[in-house]
Amino acid sequence: MQAINASIGFDRKLWRQDIAGSLAHAAMLAHVGIISAADEAAIREGLGAIARRIEAGEFPWDEALEDIHMNIEARLTEAIGEAGKRLHTGRSRNDQVALDVRLWVRDAIDGLAGQVEDVMRALVARAEAHADTVMPGFTHLQPAQPVTFGHHLLAYVEMLSRDLSRLRDARARLNESPLGAAALAGTGFPIDRHMTAAALGFDGPTRNSLDSVASRDFAAEFLFCCAMCATHLSRFAEEMVIWTNPYFGFVRLSDAFTTGSSIMPQKRNPDAAELVRGKTGRMVGALVGMLTVLKGLALTYFKDMQEDKEGIFDAAENLTLCLAAVAGMVRDMQPDAARLAQAAGAGFSTATDLADWLVRTLRMPFRDAHHVTGRLVARAEAKGCDLAGLTLAEMQAEEPRITEAVFGVLTVAASVASRTSYGGTAPENVRRMAAEWRERLA
Ligand code: ARG
Repeated sequence: MQAINASIGFDRKLWRQDIAGSLAHAAMLAHVGIISAADEAAIREGLGAIARRIEAGEFPWDEALEDIHMNIEARLTEAIGEAGKRLHTGRSRNDQVALDVRLWVRDAIDGLAGQVEDVMRALVARAEAHADTVMPGFTHLQPAQPVTFGHHLLAYVEMLSRDLSRLRDARARLNESPLGAAALAGTGFPIDRHMTAAALGFDGPTRNSLDSVASRDFAAEFLFCCAMCATHLSRFAEEMVIWTNPYFGFVRLSDAFTTGSSIMPQKRNPDAAELVRGKTGRMVGALVGMLTVLKGLALTYFKDMQEDKEGIFDAAENLTLCLAAVAGMVRDMQPDAARLAQAAGAGFSTATDLADWLVRTLRMPFRDAHHVTGRLVARAEAKGCDLAGLTLAEMQAEEPRITEAVFGVLTVAASVASRTSYGGTAPENVRRMAAEWRERLA
């Protein structure tokens, strides 16, 4: 029973939150006259001493005492006697654990949000430096249209900015105190839940005692935020894996983020990127695990809910690692501008520019222009050249009204420079967006 029941092996991570909650609770109990000022002082000193022992790694954790709440309360009572036994008046472990986990998640969100911003800053700095660096843009991992390296990096800034706003939303929604909901029904003691809520930095107390001890949607929402952010990082990681492959050769990662092979001396494996991609799986798993734990629970508290913690701790810890690794890789990667430019021009990537020219200059309907361009691509393919390698005569064989001016739109530089629509890849857009982000993140 002890082996399956005890949570102290992992919920000791909540010790700071547990002590903060108890301090606020004791101060409130004294304020409303449920315990004496002397008892409150003894509790405050006793909890302070426990905090110091835990910090020093000298606290005697005891599995027989089941969880963080009982471990701390038992040692407190050992140390200060009677007053320690009065601390649990007007509360239950059910509201206590709900409080501790909320406080922990709130801190985790603040740490992760700062890290997300750090990755965004790293991306923005590289984007600004590479506003003019061209690269192939892909759909289906097939060459589509040329884009700029900076534009590509700013796409991740946008994704991460939504992750950031999701984390902030989750924080705002969870910022209500369940303390004082007691076991499930509230309490007959004249407690002041507004006072403890304010002391712990909450916007106010939760409004329904049953909901307070039964709900973990804040935990599921946090896990979704982690899983979504990790999924974005994972897509970037996948691109690192592809781009560092020598057949692509788009970027080079330094030794700091690659590993060698124990047998193949030439290897530079992008292990950090692979692990970011791999670790995303466990965050998605934690989210699914949490939802699955909740889906069959009648109200209110069941011990099933003790299973909320490890997923949360693990997700936060691994997302921290992933964000740090991605920030490092972004700052570290060396794009190969010549190789990127060469790749950007391959695969008839300016075919759309040619079709657009036919529409603009000859007032040809786009569908017809698409058709003519398709035939020109086929000609170039047969000749073994790119579109600019066709002669004007060869072009005119497909469409007699084509003039020399068409060659002006067939270069990669002209292609990206023309994409000035709002949100488009033109270097001037990229520079403006990167500057905007730089200021917003300053
Ligand atoms: N360790 C428990 C948890 O994490 C604390 C709450 C226990 N409450 C109870 N009534 N058994 O959920």
